[in-house]
Formats: sequence, C-alpha cells, structure tokens
Amino acid sequence: MGSERKRARRYALLSGKGGVGKSIITANLAATLSTFGRRILVIDADLGLASLDVILGITPVSTIQESFRGEQSIEQVLQSTRGFDFVPAASGLPEGTVLTERLTAGVESAIAALEERYDAILFDAGAGIGDVVMFFAGLADEIMLVVTPEPTCLMDTYATIKVLYHTHGTRDFLLVVNQSGPSPASADAGERIAAHLQEVISSHFESQETDPVRIRLAGSIPVDTAVKHSVMRRRLLGETNPDAPATRALTRLAAFIDAAIRNRKTP
Ligand SMILES: Nc1ncnc2c1ncn2[C@@H]1O[C@H](COP(=O)(O)OP(=O)(O)O)[C@@H](O)[C@H]1O
Ligand SMILES: [Mg+2]
Repeated sequence: MGSERKRARRYALLSGKGGVGKSIITANLAATLSTFGRRILVIDADLGLASLDVILGITPVSTIQESFRGEQSIEQVLQSTRGFDFVPAASGLPEGTVLTERLTAGVESAIAALEERYDAILFDAGAGIGDVVMFFAGLADEIMLVVTPEPTCLMDTYATIKVLYHTHGTRDFLLVVNQSGPSPASADAGERIAAHLQEVISSHFESQETDPVRIRLAGSIPVDTAVKHSVMRRRLLGETNPDAPATRALTRLAAFIDAAIRNRKTP
C-alpha cells in the first residue's frame, strides 16, 4: 500500500483551429500549477511548429527530435524554467509532422523515463486532427479542448470531438473557452459556449449512442491585451501583468486542474 505510486496525470491541450491560445495557456498554466507546489512537466507536442520555447523566452539546448534520433538523451533535452520542467521541440522539421515508429517510440520512452517525477504532464499539441495530434491525444488521460467563441472554431471543435470519440472512444472532455469576450462577462460567455457545444453534441450522439459525450467547462479566459503584451516580451502573464483579467482567469483554471490532480485516482 505504501509503495503505491500515483502516475502523472496527462493532459493534452488540443484545438481543431490553430492560434486559439493552446500554447499560452499551457505555459501559464504550468507556471501557476508549479507555484501551487505541483510537479509539472510540459512537452511541446507541436512537433511541426513548436513555439513554447519562444513563449517561455528560452533558447533550447536540444530538442525532443534529437532524442528520437538518439543524439541526446531525454535528460539532456529537459530544461527547467519557472518551477517546472520542459521538453522543447524543433520547429520546421518534416519529421515532426509524420507519425513514424521512431516518433511514437521516442515519445513513449521519454514519458516512461520521466513521468514518475511529476504530478502532471501537459502536452501542448498542434492544431487540427492529424496523426501526430491524435497520437498525443491517445496518450492522455484528459483532453482539454481550447476554443474561442468564433463559429468556425466551434465547428472545428465539434469535428475534433467526433474524431476523438471514434478513434479513441473519448467521452469526457474538458473545455477552456479562450478570448471569451471582455473581462466581467467572460465567465458567462464560457458557460454559454460550453452549454451550446454540449447541446449540439448530445443531439448528434443521442440518435446513435446511449452514452453521450460529456463536456466540462474548466475555465474561461477573457480577451486581454495583457496576453499579447506578455507574448511580445517572451514572458509569462504573471511576470508582466500579474493583476490582469487573463492572469486571474488562468489562476482559476490552474486551481481547477490542481484540484483534479489532487483527487486523481491511482491507476
Ligand atoms: N485571451 C487572449 N487575449 C488576447 N489575445 C490572445 C488571448 N489568447 C491568445 N491570444 C493571442 O493569440 C495568439 C496565439 O496564441 P497561441 O497560444 O500561440 O495559440 P495556439 O497555440 O493555439 O496556436 C497569442 O500570441 C496571442 O496574441
Ligand atoms: Mg501552439
């Protein structure tokens, strides 16, 4: 009993549409969770267009792709920043966009080597529903869908949910509504979008399935100029704008995830 170890809870941040805020949410969420005392590993899973190093203002020493090739050990790739650990990826290499045996084996062995040290692992995935994104989704315990209120984004989210349901049988989704209007009303906007998405999905699945897909709102983040401000400075929101509405919303999201990590079941 005393030897029971809780495996790190794995979260994949996904979105059908690109540029919705996955990477800024991943970076800021990891930093805030680490201030709560959680041991967090972030993996840049956007292997084609990695950008977390830019958001974090870090120049990677080496990348996860080099560990796939056996040129670096995963320990050499790992970097620490703001209280959490980070596995950077290279951008612009075609090998990151195709799901090869080397890629899947490389990611799986990196996770196996590292995960005992952490409470949670965050995968910052690429946009869309390609093979590499679906691979990371398949490794995750929780899918966190990042959406904006735009109808095109909601359409893509709906499609992403359908594909995940059919490929991995995923039924439970966490939702983060980003850029959900201006600050005070953004929480209501988040609730409305989550309810709308749930309704569309339930009506689709009801006709064919007994057990519909469930969407749970994890957080709503307002449109906030502080986000661009922090990205332009290659810093995190807590560093440039600690009292901004987006910063406070990200802290609430981190508290939600923190509670989930604390209550997680031992597999
Ligand atoms: N809440 C927000 N308020 C204002 N701008 C935002 C917000 N969230 C994201 N952005 C803008 O969107 C850009 C893309 O975010 P990013 O996290 O890189 O998206 P993704 O990883 O989904 O492609 C950011 O650089 C920022 O300028
Ligand atoms: Mg990104």
